[in-house]
Amino acid sequence: MKQISLIGCGFVADLYMRSLAVMPGIRVCGVYDQDSARLATFCRHWKLPAKASLDAVLADQPRDGIVLNLTNPAAHYAINRACLMAGLSVYSEKPLAMDLGQARALHALAADRGLMLASAPCSVLGEAAQTLGHALRHGIAGTPRLVYAELDDGFIPQAAYRKWLSETGAPWPYVDEFRVGCTLEHAGYYLGWLIAWFGSVRTVVAASAEVVPRKCDAAEGVMAPDFSVATLFFENGPVTRLTCSIVAPHNHQIRITGDAGVLSVDAAWDNAARVRFARRLTLRRRLLEHPFPRRLRLKGPTHPKVGRWGAAAMNFMLGPAEMLDAQSEGRPCRLSNDMALHLTEVTLAIQNAGDHAGAQAMTTRCDPMEPMPWAK
Ligand SMILES: NC(=O)c1ccc[n+]([C@@H]2O[C@H](COP(=O)([O-])OP(=O)(O)OC[C@H]3O[C@@H](n4cnc5c(N)ncnc54)[C@H](O)[C@@H]3O)[C@@H](O)[C@H]2O)c1
Repeated sequence: MKQISLIGCGFVADLYMRSLAVMPGIRVCGVYDQDSARLATFCRHWKLPAKASLDAVLADQPRDGIVLNLTNPAAHYAINRACLMAGLSVYSEKPLAMDLGQARALHALAADRGLMLASAPCSVLGEAAQTLGHALRHGIAGTPRLVYAELDDGFIPQAAYRKWLSETGAPWPYVDEFRVGCTLEHAGYYLGWLIAWFGSVRTVVAASAEVVPRKCDAAEGVMAPDFSVATLFFENGPVTRLTCSIVAPHNHQIRITGDAGVLSVDAAWDNAARVRFARRLTLRRRLLEHPFPRRLRLKGPTHPKVGRWGAAAMNFMLGPAEMLDAQSEGRPCRLSNDMALHLTEVTLAIQNAGDHAGAQAMTTRCDPMEPMPWAK
């Protein structure tokens, strides 16, 4: 049995537990949250051992296992650092840290200690992303020339978000979500896929803005951009436009336009989302993409799926499971330390672009990701 510990047991922790239920061979040996009432409710529901402090969790966690940091973004750096200092590999919810200096410090510390440092999201290890990656490697759409990726969530400021509760009753942390912003929260869902397929982003040309001010009580402080758009220039990949907002109508589509047609997925947060290919054709004098795209599937079985809960149908444990497998097999983890850092640098460049950034050269690098064994 592989052992993990959880730090933070709020809204997302319940989604991890739902995912854990379909992933045999992994056991939670300790949980800690600074909110003792939340810790008690969560541990009672899932029948898990609550620990009295962060130090107690880190002391009891076997070194051949990992810690999952599921706290709020502002706490990520300190918790990730504490895990690494204790000699433990850590899987951090996104973002790895709130600024690049801190992310670099974590990356250096992990390298120094020979530990793994991975960052969510892990949907890149899921079936939809792996199927698209397979199609790209096999040239289904010809040479990819241009990617449009959208992570628009609808007009969230008017949604009934005060009523959104997790399975054990944790409220959706809307103040934190608005303060951190949809780019830091969500850009990684498609950036992870893109970096896995194409490797490093060379230059980011981005803009970001807060287009809906005073989303909740104004006393709750400065809010982050609720809209961003970036053009990404990869070292070895097609030019990409990535959009994030919690304002424009819901659209989670990714379209990869190649010389032979268009590959697409409509749902970023569904591991089983359909992957489609629309061949380009000429009918008399008219150029069009095939109106009935072909569904692409991998041949064999892929990975355990979870049902939909709220907006997502994602197996949140694919990332931690990949780390544990890498650890026990003594091989590099697909969610590499370099990937975590590079994804953080690109995301922060977009988030902080404002209306004046110009072209930003990236300083970190990351190799493309080895496909999952069932997607080779
Ligand atoms: N809410 C979602 O739908 C969702 C989905 C995917 C990922 N995430 C990510 O998961 C992370 C957590 O989000 P959430 O929605 O669960 O937030 P949340 O506020 O519901 O839960 C976070 C928990 O961490 C605890 N915590 C904070 N600082 C701590 C510390 N220093 N030590 C111990 N416990 C601490 C809090 O008490 C809280 O119970 C974020 O990084 C977020 O980006 C959230």
